[in-house]
Amino acid sequence: MSKYKVTKAVIPVAGLGTRFLPATKAMPKEMLPLIDKPVIQYVVEEAVEAGLQDILMITGRNKNALENHFDRVAELEMNLELKGDKDRLAKVMASSELANIHYVRQGDPRGLGHAVLRGKAHIADHSFALLLGDDVMDSRDVLLSKMLAVHEATGENVVALMEVSPDQIHLYGCAVTEGEVEDGVVRITGLVEKPKNDEAPSNLAVVGRYVLRPKIFEILEETAPGRGGEIQLTDALMTAAQHPERAGGVLGVVFKGRRYDTGDKLDFIKATLRLGVDREDIGQELRTWLHEFNNEI
Ligand code: UTP
Repeated sequence: MSKYKVTKAVIPVAGLGTRFLPATKAMPKEMLPLIDKPVIQYVVEEAVEAGLQDILMITGRNKNALENHFDRVAELEMNLELKGDKDRLAKVMASSELANIHYVRQGDPRGLGHAVLRGKAHIADHSFALLLGDDVMDSRDVLLSKMLAVHEATGENVVALMEVSPDQIHLYGCAVTEGEVEDGVVRITGLVEKPKNDEAPSNLAVVGRYVLRPKIFEILEETAPGRGGEIQLTDALMTAAQHPERAGGVLGVVFKGRRYDTGDKLDFIKATLRLGVDREDIGQELRTWLHEFNNEI
């Protein structure tokens, strides 16, 4: 087995989700449903699809709803079984049989870097995938398996990049790149967290998928709180990019598929519609209605 073979995924879900208040007052934003599945289930399914069965969730307050979703609900299962409702029973069982899910609390939400650090004991000295719990990549487009293959072949840290319009780059970590190392893979030499639009070094934004070497924990431990008083993963990745001898360099896989930032209200609505129009059960009716609605507005 390659030294850089990945079997574990970390999914942080401990953010406060302030952009979605008051919906997220008593429930993590990752439990909001896209049609009929909570956002987090799409993310776990993506990890499993890429071969990662061992999942560690970094949870915050209101973690119960998350844990319950991936657990058995005997009463509900029995009720559906008695009714002979096999389809719904299968859907209810699917999430509890999906993966081996472990949980650790973040305590205070002191930033993504701090959340990732909470995974140190579980991950130990293996490379791991990091999937942000509110970022959904359309399952019809390939990303994570390509990132894992690049990591396995090179041993370098890998982040997902997407081209965004120049007026959006201030919302993201922005990559300084140095040309393609292979088709769709670039070397990252620097990163800037949420730059001003007119100061951004590129239009390549870091989006919520990473494959990281365990050395990143050591770097995170040394990383002082940055922007907003939070420990920023971007700052640690910047150190890795500038000191490849310490933690391996950083490569970017440029993703051209469909991504939904479900922590953002508008993107959440777009995701619901994009996924909805292709659904077998509701797609046709939704398309017809959208055409009618379009004439109304
Ligand atoms: P965001 O910055 O989108 O999350 O973090 P947030 O702070 O919850 O959102 P807003 O801006 O207040 O609406 C990206 C991912 O990192 C997790 C979040 O749960 C999300 O999946 N996160 C963020 C943590 O787990 N802990 C943190 O301290 C911060």
